[in-house]
Amino acid sequence: MKKLWFFTGKGGVGKSTLACAFALELCEVFPKVVLVSVDPAHSTSDLLADVGPKNLELFEISPEKEREFFVEEAIETIRPFLKPDVLKRGEKILKDLSLSPGAEEILFIDSLSKIVASYEVVVVDGAPSGHTVQLLRRSINTGLWISSLIEAGKDLARDWDPKKKEAYERAMEKVRQREIRLRTLEKTLRSKEAVFLPVMIPENMSLLETLRLVETLKKLSLNVGPVLVNRLLPEDAGSSFLKEHIRLQKEVLQRVKKYFKDIVTLPMLSKEPKGELLKTLGKSIFKAVAHPYRL
Ligand SMILES: Nc1ncnc2c1ncn2[C@@H]1O[C@H](COP(=O)(O)OP(=O)(O)O)[C@@H](O)[C@H]1O
Ligand SMILES: [Mg+2]
Repeated sequence: MKKLWFFTGKGGVGKSTLACAFALELCEVFPKVVLVSVDPAHSTSDLLADVGPKNLELFEISPEKEREFFVEEAIETIRPFLKPDVLKRGEKILKDLSLSPGAEEILFIDSLSKIVASYEVVVVDGAPSGHTVQLLRRSINTGLWISSLIEAGKDLARDWDPKKKEAYERAMEKVRQREIRLRTLEKTLRSKEAVFLPVMIPENMSLLETLRLVETLKKLSLNVGPVLVNRLLPEDAGSSFLKEHIRLQKEVLQRVKKYFKDIVTLPMLSKEPKGELLKTLGKSIFKAVAHPYRL
């Protein structure tokens, strides 16, 4: 059984905090849980520093490393069957491709497809948004990356010796495998197995952003779970300054309830939510989105 949860929303609303909290709670139920972070700041390892259970595996995806890895791997794949001058040009094309707009997301999709192919229970912190899912489609259709270069080698293949032909076949097989992996990822993302969890804070701006985000996700026929309204101030918080904040948050919360049937509110904690403190937040999210898995 595959299960994927995506925490999505604008920066600063609590995606990393809640994704870590939720992953911790899942570790109580599943033998193995994977947490994938695409936030360049990678706060996940800090958040989990004191509590990281053994059955939690963390992948912090860095665009730089992914880019380097992609170029290296692609060059090694095409090296055995391309002439040195063609290879040199190929190398330049690959480097340029890896720096082109949208490349970071495509590289992320590639890494995610590998992770999803190998693990059953996956929590993603920070992405993919609707935009990333659209990119997934495009990435499959264009067969971008090494495939175009490998295709270009096809006409040359007639004069090749058996060794080069073999290397070419191996490269083609890699491309086919990648395509299968991406198609599987797309299928999984669009299935009931994947749940997108929009995270917001009780402020009007955040509500407007969330409405747009949910609309995009729904247009893509993705499965949207409850909206997580994070950092709700406790009713009994002290001063008049805070009381005004509480009143404003309540107002927004009423509006949130008008737009979304299914919401989960998470309290603003008095301390920075880290380590053990994450557990209270994790339990509330788990109850709302994953309780059927508690045996
Ligand atoms: N429920 C909460 N109570 C108190 N502080 C919170 C809560 N959720 C998040 N924070 C704090 O808000 C900040 C942003 O959270 P973070 O998880 O890094 O957001 P994101 O990943 O969406 O950018 C962090 O300093 C975090 O400690
Ligand atoms: Mg984050």
